[in-house]
Parts: sequence; C-alpha cells; structure tokens
Amino acid sequence: MDRGFIYVNSKNLIHNLDLIQKNINKQLCLVVKASAYGHGINWAVKNAIKKNISWFAVASINEAIEVRSISDEVNILLLSEPSESEISKVYELGIDLTVYNSDFIKNLIKSGHNFNVHLKVDTGMHRIGCEPEKFYEIYNLIINSNLKLRGICTHFPTADVDSEFTFSAVEKFRKLLEKINISDLLIHVDNSASSFYNFDNIFNLSRIGIAAYGVSISAQKTNLKLLPTMEIKTRISNIQMRSIGESVSYGHALILERDSVIATAPIGYADGYPWNSFPDGKVIISNKFCKLIGRVTMDQILIDVTDVEAKINDEVVILGKSQNNEISIDVKDIADWNKTIPWEILTNMSKRLERVEID
Ligand SMILES: Cc1ncc(COP(=O)(O)O)c(C=O)c1O
Repeated sequence: MDRGFIYVNSKNLIHNLDLIQKNINKQLCLVVKASAYGHGINWAVKNAIKKNISWFAVASINEAIEVRSISDEVNILLLSEPSESEISKVYELGIDLTVYNSDFIKNLIKSGHNFNVHLKVDTGMHRIGCEPEKFYEIYNLIINSNLKLRGICTHFPTADVDSEFTFSAVEKFRKLLEKINISDLLIHVDNSASSFYNFDNIFNLSRIGIAAYGVSISAQKTNLKLLPTMEIKTRISNIQMRSIGESVSYGHALILERDSVIATAPIGYADGYPWNSFPDGKVIISNKFCKLIGRVTMDQILIDVTDVEAKINDEVVILGKSQNNEISIDVKDIADWNKTIPWEILTNMSKRLERVEID
C-alpha cells in the first residue's frame, strides 16, 4: 500500500438500493454526479444496473459521457441546463435535459432536434427552475414544439431538516400539475431525505444520492438500515517519540502534555481528508480510537499512538469499522469535526486514493 485505499462496497450499495426501492414505491434515479459521490461512476452505474435501475442523474456532460460509455440503454438526466456550446453533444449522447429558461428552450427548439426535456419548477430552493407563475407559458412552449416533454420536477432545499416547508413546496407543485395531463410524464421531486416522506403517488421517480451511499438523512425518522458504501484505510508510515512540551506538524498547534508516541500516516487534505479534522478528528489503529495530534497536512497526518500497540505498516482506519467490528468512524463524524456535511466529505475524496471494489 502506497498511500491508501478507498474500498467501495458493492454489496452494501445493492443492499441500500434494494431497501430504498422497497420503501419508496417509485422508480429510482441514482444520482451519480461528482464521481458518484466519490465512489466512481463506473462502479455505481454497473452495480445499479444489476438492480434494474435505468435512470442516472449527472451534473456535467463529462459525467454523462462516462455513464453513456457503460450503457447505451440507460436514461441519463442532466440536472441543469448546459451551455449552448454543449447542446450538440447532449443530442449525440441521448441525454435528457432539465430545462427552465425560455430563451434556452427556444434555442433547443431552433436546433431542430427532438431533445428529451424535464421542466423544472422553482418551489422554494431558488437556485434554478422556472417561477411557478411562468410554468404554463413554458410548459406550452415545450409541448407545442419538436421537444419531447418527459418529466416535470422540482427540488427541495430543506427536506433533511424541515418537513413543513417541504410539504408546502409539494402543495405548490401539485397545484400546478392539476391543470395539465401528466399521465405519461415522470414527476420527480425527491432527494434522499424527502423520499421517505411518502407524499403522493403522482410522484413516480426519486432522485436518490446520499442514501444510496449509506448515509441516512431525513427529517422523518426511518428505520432503514442503510450500510456505508465507502471505507478508507491507510497505514502507519513512520513512528517517533516526542517529549512533553514539544509539538508536531504545521503551526505547532498543540503542545504535548505527556511524552508521546506519534505515528504518521500518508493521507492528507490533497487526498480529500479535510484540514479541519484536527483537533477533533480520530482514526482507528489496533481496534482503538487514536486522536490526531497535529494539523492535517497536504499528504500526511500525525496520530497519537501512545496508548496502543502500533508499528510501521499497521492499518489505519480513516473511515469505516475496526477489524473487530466494535468501533467505527462514519462520514457524519468526519463531517462534524469539520463543521460540514457528509456530501462534501464524500465528494471531495480525491482520485489520488485508489478505489478498490469489494463484494
Ligand atoms: C437536483 C438534485 N436532485 C437530487 C439530488 C440528490 O440529493 P441527495 O444526495 O440528498 O439524495 C441532488 C443532490 O445534490 C440534486 O442536486
């Protein structure tokens, strides 16, 4: 092992997809943007196809190209409007587009191609999407053109923390749909958190990201036992003794309060292990939690191993379970130390760490 490995667990992904499919009673669109939340698009798509998932959501044309290289048959949904220069590529690849802007839609129509489109409505996220007041005008523009309307969608800003706001957004969205024929359309509003609200059977597709990768996020309590799909392990690359009063790593941010044994491990913020993991962060060595003892550097971390048996080349668990399965570090822990969210931790895991698929 040179630096460290990201183990992506296919069995756990399939378990999660199974559990989600059984509990949401809708078609599932797996969100695979940002390298499938750090796991690798190829791995995620290949395994999801085994569970008959036929919809994949991406944020860029390059991601769509990667999905298309795995299957000619699956549906690929680009989650926002691309730049004008990318439109011909979209058509060649057979990608479904999310649309909301009448000028952009008019340009699509002018191109003469019969693009598949999903009309996005802004029900409160205020990021992209057409204003509800403009919905019928844009809807009519699309259905009276050469474009094929395949879906209508929205996105929730607070589904993981505020179910009340989410329900009011759903009402706003449902009202718009009352006056049109939606019988052949995909109606999709959900992310992971809102998928478990069980709103309404007119919503027939859920865009699931983080839950598929084993992180439970919902303002509604669910008993689903999602399993983590990512583990990160590295090794001890150096051991040193330091005396009380000394400090290690940049900034000498902490003064040792005792004579200490300190291990170095070859993972750092350039690998996606965030800088703010110090001072609260921990790793697991020899089935015990060991604290970081100095700032995270670009390529290495420093760990207090005074209280454990540790030698060069011993395994260091950065994310995941101890060998005896008794303790673990999960992505929410790393997010908490860094005052951020699990999505950011997963999607920032760098390509420098080799992905290893395990079953
Ligand atoms: C438009 C859209 N839909 C669905 C998702 C999936 O969200 P989650 O990872 O919370 O399931 C995202 C994620 O950022 C998104 O931007």
